[in-house]
Amino acid sequence: MILNGYGARLLKRGMTTITGLLLAGGVLAAPISGLDVLKNRCASCHMEKGKLQRISDLRKTPEGWDMTIARMQVWHKVEISKEERRILVKYLADKQGLTPAEAAPYRSLVERRPNLQDVIPKEALGQMCARCHSFGRVALQRRGAEEWKKLVHTHLGQFPSIEYSALGRDRNWKDIALNEVVPELAKLYPASTASWNNWQGKKHVPPTGSWQISGHRPGWGDYAGSMQVNPLGKDRYDVSYKLIYSAGNHVSGHGQSIIYSGYEWRGDATLGNQKVRSVFALSEDGKKLSGRWFLRESDEIGATFEAVPAGNASEPAIVTVFPSLLKTGSEVHLSVHGVQLGKDYDLGPGIKIISVKKINENEVELTVNVADDAAVGLRSLRSKGGAGDVKVAVYRQFDSIRIEPEFGVARLGGGTNSGMSSQFEAVAYLNGPDGLAGNADDIRLGYVSANWSVDNFDESAKAANDVGFAGVMDENGLFIPALAGPNPARKNFNNVGNLSVMAKVADGARTSEAKAHLIVTVQRWNTPPLR
Ligand code: HEC
Ligand code: HEC
Repeated sequence: MILNGYGARLLKRGMTTITGLLLAGGVLAAPISGLDVLKNRCASCHMEKGKLQRISDLRKTPEGWDMTIARMQVWHKVEISKEERRILVKYLADKQGLTPAEAAPYRSLVERRPNLQDVIPKEALGQMCARCHSFGRVALQRRGAEEWKKLVHTHLGQFPSIEYSALGRDRNWKDIALNEVVPELAKLYPASTASWNNWQGKKHVPPTGSWQISGHRPGWGDYAGSMQVNPLGKDRYDVSYKLIYSAGNHVSGHGQSIIYSGYEWRGDATLGNQKVRSVFALSEDGKKLSGRWFLRESDEIGATFEAVPAGNASEPAIVTVFPSLLKTGSEVHLSVHGVQLGKDYDLGPGIKIISVKKINENEVELTVNVADDAAVGLRSLRSKGGAGDVKVAVYRQFDSIRIEPEFGVARLGGGTNSGMSSQFEAVAYLNGPDGLAGNADDIRLGYVSANWSVDNFDESAKAANDVGFAGVMDENGLFIPALAGPNPARKNFNNVGNLSVMAKVADGARTSEAKAHLIVTVQRWNTPPLR
């Protein structure tokens, strides 16, 4: 696209908008399609030589397309209604999306997992393209060399400081970007591939029906439950949820979801009284749905999610059991969740099943006795019907405790931004064959409850009394950050902090301790879906 034609296009676009308004004032005809939106809102600037230049030769995730349209609105004053934007994202993600395999390495970014470690294929590429945003933002797009080149030019035009800031001024940024990075990106992430053509040509299985779901919400624990998905047409679905948490609380919910590109599930729902978003991937055979859901206003708070079909014709499966930590010499009630559950269960030698009570098709309660001398470690819960395989952990005493994440990040709130909390969890371990704690052969038993506290991480944090200003730790391991400041009590310092996180876990007469690191840093000023 040629920039000196820009002014003329702006004029043309103005006319299109006026015509658009006139039409909207009259009788609205048939519902608009993605093509209509492209014609009405985008073609004025992008149509050249019978082709939508800059649009036709790219492939992106639904979030990637949505962010580009947002940029068109902010930078190029494109006027487009929310409904048109939704229709266009759907159209473009279906026609020019990513295959499941292409999106797979960067799902965590789309799922907005907190404390994320960026995945960078090569240090040099990371220095060039992952210092302002994640590398995932790059790797979740597909372009030919020409389009990667234009993107570099756009960056230089829009962010001239790209050449002068750190990791830019120490090199000839522009030459390296155009001559080394562009060919590499074109090879790693090409636009036209046989795999995308194949994927697009496939008939995709809809997620309609009932599902058995399970997952883990840090801070709340494991959950199981059901999900009912009914079609609304055009890849949209009405969805109801029923969740049971390991602590015994029930939460139900309802919402709507959409499938992009044949497998990318995005949903909005209210679970209990919380508004949540879901980002799942549907497997090619339609027999697995997995991903993460999170609070719409605080995406660091959320849960993992796995689902398998639960209709009458579905294969039997055990999906989860809680509690999953069994102490030797104790009697335990286990709640088993799954599909077409049978009556016969086996936990191996040393664990006697005393009673089996069927609650319904999807839940069975077992009472088991764990012998004093039962072998410790992980073992499978098996159903004699052959259904599924989930693990329980047998222990006599925990050998050590670790905190997840080992390194957490929280952000101060204030101004127009709500803060970003940081959730920690304590995990119990056995030492493993070498008898030593803290190495690779340790056996991860599972989550345990702990007593939580924070302290200054080092001498300079102590001198500035970070622990007195940065925020508070609640009893469930959730660190809630303070407001940003400026805080006169800190000589106009912000309320940032460098903290240690401590967990104490009581196990019989012994108490195990673990330590992690928490950085409480400044606000995030913008929160795009792909960071
Ligand atoms: C007022 C003119 C104008 C309109 C209308 C417009 N664009 Fe753009 N678009 C631009 C300009 C200028 C660029 C190149 C600079 C840039 O990338 O921002 C661009 C670039 C793009 C790119 C390439 C960005 C990339 O990924 O590198 C895409 C895709 C795009 N536009 C999509 C759209 C869509 C979809 C619409 C309709 C909703 C639209 N544009 C409407 C002016 C416009
Ligand atoms: C100086 C900071 C900076 C560097 C370095 C940088 N980017 Fe960006 N990039 C941005 C910003 C800011 C945006 C978001 C623009 C917006 O949406 O308003 C962006 C957006 C993008 C997008 C999304 C654009 C779209 O419309 O889909 C891609 C893809 C991208 N960058 C790739 C790259 C690549 C490739 C490199 C390395 C050659 C790179 N970036 C280096 C700041 C940077």
